[in-house]
Amino acid sequence: MTVSHDVLLVGGGGAGLRAAIAIAEANPRLRVAVVSKVYPMRSHTVSAEGGAAGAIAADDSLDEHAYDTVSGSDWLCDQDAVEAFVDEAPRELLQLEHWGCPWSREPDGHVAVRAFGGMKKMRTWFAADKTGFHMLHTLFQTSLKYDEVVRYDEWFVTKLLVDDGRVHGVVAVDLMTGRVETITAKAVILCTGGCGKVFPFTTNASISTGDGMALAYRAGAPLKDMEFVQYHPTGLPFTGILITEAARAEGGWMLNKDGYRYLQDYDLGTPSPTPVLRSMELGPRDRLSQAFVHEVEKGRVTDSPWGPIVHLDLRHLGQQLIDTKLPFVRELCLKYENIDPVTELIPVRPVVHYMMGGVHTDIDGATPIGGLYAAGEVACVSINGANRLGSNSLPECLVFGARAGRAAAEYAATAGDPPAAIEAQAADEVRRLERDLLHKTDGHEQVSVIREEMQQTVEDSAGIFRTGEALAKGVDTLRELQQRFGHVAVADTSRTFNTELVAALELENMLDVAECIVQSGLWREESRGAHQRTDFPARDDERYLAHSLIHRNPDESSRLDSLPVTITRWPPGERTYGK
Ligand code: FUM
Repeated sequence: MTVSHDVLLVGGGGAGLRAAIAIAEANPRLRVAVVSKVYPMRSHTVSAEGGAAGAIAADDSLDEHAYDTVSGSDWLCDQDAVEAFVDEAPRELLQLEHWGCPWSREPDGHVAVRAFGGMKKMRTWFAADKTGFHMLHTLFQTSLKYDEVVRYDEWFVTKLLVDDGRVHGVVAVDLMTGRVETITAKAVILCTGGCGKVFPFTTNASISTGDGMALAYRAGAPLKDMEFVQYHPTGLPFTGILITEAARAEGGWMLNKDGYRYLQDYDLGTPSPTPVLRSMELGPRDRLSQAFVHEVEKGRVTDSPWGPIVHLDLRHLGQQLIDTKLPFVRELCLKYENIDPVTELIPVRPVVHYMMGGVHTDIDGATPIGGLYAAGEVACVSINGANRLGSNSLPECLVFGARAGRAAAEYAATAGDPPAAIEAQAADEVRRLERDLLHKTDGHEQVSVIREEMQQTVEDSAGIFRTGEALAKGVDTLRELQQRFGHVAVADTSRTFNTELVAALELENMLDVAECIVQSGLWREESRGAHQRTDFPARDDERYLAHSLIHRNPDESSRLDSLPVTITRWPPGERTYGK
């Protein structure tokens, strides 16, 4: 069966819902569909905690937000995109307020803003420490106002239908019935989020398996800057659950095993009892995660069953502040670690949190494939370059979700109907799913085994510090794992909510994305932001002030080239913090 829409969104989180609303507002005649592998309120946006940046304070300016973002990115972002971002972010956040988002407020009624890592002004809007939850609710309830937006909840997209350089829709499995259907559309926007699950230890939800990145890559769109993976300095050691940077913004301290505020040893400033912007615990995430590894090397960390840890100390903040500004931190610590941060230290270690790279797009979310757009973490516009600043990603979903929505609406208004050729493509995809996964009789490899080996390989080769040798070995191992995936067995042949089939499809996506991360890391022979090569320890602007682009060849091998970085007003300089 084939159904048709004008614009199809793949992914129902912050970027997807913002895009859907933008399309409905731009052109109410367009039929919009949101396909999501989970019910939208279960999208990973819901777990965002600390806040969303947008300059509104009297002492702040758009230029300062732009500069912090550019320097935080180690000059690898595109400055035209950053300028558009900082300009539109406050308007988007205010729009959310008008749609009902309960931003935390100052006693005088103004929207409250807090400090965040790498930012020299307080500009992070927040809703206590459940910002993503409230933003997603606001977007979801707003999207319900538009009858022209229909949803396919719990559908898994397996293929983009592309003919003659243009996208014409998708093939998707309805997870409840197991039916495979073709959904045609004049434009498609990928908003599927990140790919943290290619690593063994991540803050990301289980659903963050890089699906949109893999779909675009296989369809012929390059992935950009895939070597840049962000570790967040404070994850709970066993689960990887995020302890928000807001805890440090409110005055939390990072302590090593001697109770020493070790960040003072890493060019991040000197300790102060109250938080100092862009200093110590409020330094950028790449530097804080790298400092942790050096503490491990110096033997100044504590061993735990889950590897070395340091501690986050909130005790001096007092119960009232913790309960008002960081209630979720307290709840998570109590529930998952059985400790109370009011009186006890929180054990933490760096954890994979965010993908700076993604599907290559322009400033309106357009990919090189006609009619195909991407926004949010799946995309690389790029405003994050080599290291994203905390609290820039929620407004990124809003600003570039809205931009992609408006651009796709304009494209769809004049695009023609899908060509007949895509029917054959869709039929091939149905046969592939049946033959290679659902009705395979000779499969002997297990999804869980390959997945674990993949995660370990990516961690070993593309962790916080990397070498050419480890990356090259990682590429070889991932290729072997891709071969082995060809023999994977899906024992469950049932149609209704076949979670084993979903796990296999996700693994197939992750194997492609993992290879892109490791290959791109091997290509970049310098150290910049979150990509630290111990065999090339310096930043090399002469050779690498450029985005990497990884393409898939027709024979399924990959090919790398590069794209210049757009510099408008801030020439490359030294990244200094704590000064
Ligand atoms: O720590 C946090 O609350 C994370 C925020 C972000 O990644 O933007």
